[in-house]
Amino acid sequence: MGDLGGDEWAMVVRKGNQFMVNDQPFYVNGFNTYWLMVFAVDQSTRGKVSEVFQQASSVGLSVCRTWAFNDGQWRALQKSPAVYDEEVFKALDFVISEAKKHKIRLILSLTNNWEAYGGKAQYVKWGKAAGLNVSSDDDFFSDPTLKSYYKAHKILTRVNTFTNVTYKDDPTIFAWELMNEPRCLSDPTGDRLQAWIKEMALYVKSIDSRHLLEIGLEGFYGPSTPDRAQFNPNTFATQVGTDFIRNHQAFGIDFASVHIYADSWISKTISDKHIQFTKTWMQAHMDDAEKTLGMPVIFGEFGVSAKDQGFNTSFRDTFMNTVYRAILDSTKKGGSGGGTLVWQLFPDGTDYMDDGYAIVLSKSPSTSNIMSLQSRRLMLFNSLCSTKCHWSCKKKNALETFLYHEEL
Ligand SMILES: *[C@@H]1O[C@H](CO)[C@@H](O)[C@H](O)[C@H]1NC(C)=O
Ligand SMILES: *[C@@H]1O[C@H](CO)[C@@H](O)[C@H](O)[C@H]1NC(C)=O
Ligand SMILES: *[C@@H]1O[C@H](CO)[C@@H](O)[C@H](O)[C@H]1NC(C)=O
Repeated sequence: MGDLGGDEWAMVVRKGNQFMVNDQPFYVNGFNTYWLMVFAVDQSTRGKVSEVFQQASSVGLSVCRTWAFNDGQWRALQKSPAVYDEEVFKALDFVISEAKKHKIRLILSLTNNWEAYGGKAQYVKWGKAAGLNVSSDDDFFSDPTLKSYYKAHKILTRVNTFTNVTYKDDPTIFAWELMNEPRCLSDPTGDRLQAWIKEMALYVKSIDSRHLLEIGLEGFYGPSTPDRAQFNPNTFATQVGTDFIRNHQAFGIDFASVHIYADSWISKTISDKHIQFTKTWMQAHMDDAEKTLGMPVIFGEFGVSAKDQGFNTSFRDTFMNTVYRAILDSTKKGGSGGGTLVWQLFPDGTDYMDDGYAIVLSKSPSTSNIMSLQSRRLMLFNSLCSTKCHWSCKKKNALETFLYHEEL
């Protein structure tokens, strides 16, 4: 990568609609591997954590999104509210320390909307066990005691036992994520979830004002913007209690998150519609992020499942190229497209964990090349374009050639 001037491992910050590190832009080519903490608990599987970071880094990926929660389940981090298994916490310490060794930053999600690894359903179970009058899993968003449990999750102030760095001071952490894919079907107006986001964003920022914060949303348009509902993948998406624009206007939220799952939202049968949807969906959100929200947007999950009807690797490559190209088109203009995180990267020998979306780089040479090229293109941007040159560097022509010449 060469000497970029400011080489120190600094915190990622946001300026307007761009991410910056050491006064250079920081466009993200990254990935998801959600189970790192759980794999790090056992010595027998800990090596897989280092392996996936190593492989990601070999294709230039610089950000990984992963779970910093495991509520009440097997290998739980939180055995009960704010009661931790120290061995599991040390495993998360290891993940963070190992990420830094590979120059990878982390987006750490704080809980789940879904039941996997506990999530809001587990918080409600804890509440019931403590005698609360709660019934729906969505009580997670509004019951005062359940909200106090969420706040009691002592992640931000944890001191890493490998590095001695407190999480809230660690530049290895790119951002906190309030929740993986929050939805609140019990209140389609969106008020219930909005109140929770506002309260929790303020709470996280009151403890850690330096790290960036995002929500973890899938990006569906809601009641505040009826004119944008046309971009939703289906009418149901408008009624899940989320609201892309309004939610991201909550004080303390630094950047927008959007997921891209044409296969689960539109049709399990692969077709060109998936590509068309992906383009329109990304463009709509980048426009909003730029014109309405004034913040960057990260496409925090995108992928296609090998279980889909009509799947093949060449379709996946076309899909990934579509996503990457949309980011480059935005990047070129200094737009709000901050980057993407593919769902999901697996090291060799973890196939039994695969939900169909796993990409094993050693088995996917063409996909590896596509990822690697995207990384090099973004890195070039990151190194050539300082804020001072306002995206009109002298090298612009060379850059254009590099950005759009597929063979490179
Ligand atoms: C529990 O909550 C429900 C719904 O809010 C209410 O109808 C019910 O009376 C409550 N039960 C008790 C024991 O407080
Ligand atoms: C962390 O702190 C302990 C106790 O002060 C010290 O022994 C250890 O060397 C430190 N580790 C690192 C990586 O700085
Ligand atoms: C791959 O899948 C796509 C979409 O299903 C299809 O159009 C294409 O013909 C397939 N290509 C190969 C090489 O099988």
